[in-house]
Amino acid sequence: MSRLALLGGQKTISIDYLKAATLPVVSEKGKRVVNELMEKGEISQSPIVARFARRFADYVGTDYGLCTNNGTSALESAVFAVGVAPGDEVIVPSYTFWASVTPIIAQHGVPVFCEVDPDTHCIDPMDIERHVSARTKAIMVVHVWGNPCDMDPIMEIAKRHGLAVIEDCSHAHGASYKGRMVGSIGDVGCFSFQGSKTLPAGEGGILVTNDRTCYERAAALGHYELIPTLPTDSPYHRYMLTGMGQKFRIHPFAVALADAQLDELDARSELRRRNALSFEQGIADIPFVRPQRELDGAHRVFSYHYFRYMPSTGNPTETYAFLKALHAEGVACGYCGYGRLHKAPLFLEGGPYGDCIASDPKVVTPLPRTEMTARTTFLAAPRFETECDELIHQYITAYHKVSEHIEEVLAYMRSNDLSKELARLSGRSIAML
Ligand SMILES: Cc1ncc(COP(=O)(O)O)c(C=O)c1O
Repeated sequence: MSRLALLGGQKTISIDYLKAATLPVVSEKGKRVVNELMEKGEISQSPIVARFARRFADYVGTDYGLCTNNGTSALESAVFAVGVAPGDEVIVPSYTFWASVTPIIAQHGVPVFCEVDPDTHCIDPMDIERHVSARTKAIMVVHVWGNPCDMDPIMEIAKRHGLAVIEDCSHAHGASYKGRMVGSIGDVGCFSFQGSKTLPAGEGGILVTNDRTCYERAAALGHYELIPTLPTDSPYHRYMLTGMGQKFRIHPFAVALADAQLDELDARSELRRRNALSFEQGIADIPFVRPQRELDGAHRVFSYHYFRYMPSTGNPTETYAFLKALHAEGVACGYCGYGRLHKAPLFLEGGPYGDCIASDPKVVTPLPRTEMTARTTFLAAPRFETECDELIHQYITAYHKVSEHIEEVLAYMRSNDLSKELARLSGRSIAML
């Protein structure tokens, strides 16, 4: 096998994935509808918003849908909707994007960090119960990278302790668990339509629920304009003048883009899934890279390809050296910063939210399995969104080449100081090499 590109050999990947495997973010239909909205002057409020909320709720299978200006505000609405009051605790994984956690403190709740299962990268149901206290109000689960969490035991624990379940589905549009769409299983589901997601709208989000009270509370929190539309017996009519403190209205242009993308969502997800499985099968013989495990009965949507590098020592520099060698071969790969929130200054030092969080020993509990998952996870490949067999084949070849030269990669690591490069990447949530 030829010399590693890291050491001056020829690189394996000759195809530009941006040209070969990426679809336009904005469709022709999206552009047309945005133009129509501009011509009609519907640049702040539009009937398209309620129509799309209904359409997306039907897609997920819930009674209610409420569009928001981003996924973060959908999550804050959800935290408020399920009744988290100041001082209430919400159990949440540390292995996630910060926006699964900060909405809890924005509502003056206390995040209590919990382990993930290193195989699925999702919240570990076995670790939830030890964090339940008299102040626990909810569990926030994250279907991370598009992989559904193990919802049956989670719902069972929630029921036993009288807790609400919020599903952060920001990566998981169209994913399902035992025949039910994610977002429809817990009390409230939240999706992001941010531009890099698989239903991109620029910025935007949606909250879905089957619970009338949750919907009304969420609507009242961030949408004073919707309060008159609530049923006449709603207790939230009294806030018509002021709303309840936030303004989370989505831009109608974003809705136009999301609505157009929804036409294509399932077909695109299935093609990505076929491509992803062929990539994973192609490298299944490499013992030290491990894809996320999809649970029996779960249907994952492969929004991202995050793998774990299984080094013998658990040293993060090994993961980085491996990535560096792949990157030199032309692999679009990246470092993952998930799994560090329980050590983030915002929570440990209280940041702008005061130090009630920092003083709670449960918040700073060690999470060894999460930390190990964090040290070893990496972004293995870009989305394969088109029929791109040749590109996938090149990726498989590159992974084999680097793995067959792994001793040279480790020798390179030992004779070069990679600590500065690693430090530059490791503070970030997601960092492409
Ligand atoms: C897991 C997760 N939760 C929440 C969010 C927040 O979504 P938004 O960026 O639309 O506010 C994101 C966005 O990247 C995310 O990845």
